[in-house]
Amino acid sequence: MKSLVVYSSRTGNTRKVAQAIFEILPEPKEIHPVETAPPPDEFDFIALGFWANKGTADEAAQKYMKTINGKNVGVFGTLGAYPDSEHARKCMARVEKLLEGNHVHGGFMCQGKVDPDVVQMMAKVAPEKHPMTPERRNRLEEAKLHPDEKDLLNARTAFEAILEKL
Ligand SMILES: Cc1cc2nc3c(=O)[nH]c(=O)nc-3n(C[C@H](O)[C@H](O)[C@H](O)COP(=O)(O)O)c2cc1C
Repeated sequence: MKSLVVYSSRTGNTRKVAQAIFEILPEPKEIHPVETAPPPDEFDFIALGFWANKGTADEAAQKYMKTINGKNVGVFGTLGAYPDSEHARKCMARVEKLLEGNHVHGGFMCQGKVDPDVVQMMAKVAPEKHPMTPERRNRLEEAKLHPDEKDLLNARTAFEAILEKL
């Protein structure tokens, strides 16, 4: 079984998770950022990483997903929201829909620190859309600590379980 880890990462959170997952995959294996990833054709298992943008996978990850068909896939993502939130659940459901035509064996999500410039920009451009409530402030503060070692451990465990099912 030849495995490929492909990840899209703007600020490094998803790259960290990708590297943790890569460690536990058996050889032969490759890891690539989505920008320079090879086509999925020659691989038997693909671990695909995205960062959440507007409640779904970021555009670069989506573009790569469209090239995958009939493969065993495990998905992982990082997001500002809590991974056990309704937002995260919907986000993962959208991603799994984008991967229709493949065997999606499960997924993993964890929080990832949100670019402070983007938070500031949102506050300026659309303060009514993302009001800085105490709840949001707490969530952004919590996100600053992720992905942490526990997230990386959980990501490895989730993908070990996926490998056992293949
Ligand atoms: C433009 C933009 C849009 C985002 N949209 C969402 C979103 O819809 N939901 C969410 O939970 N987090 C959202 N985030 C937060 C990122 O998904 C999160 O910080 C992620 O860990 C970034 O991953 P990276 O470091 O691999 O780029 C957004 C961040 C940016 C910059």
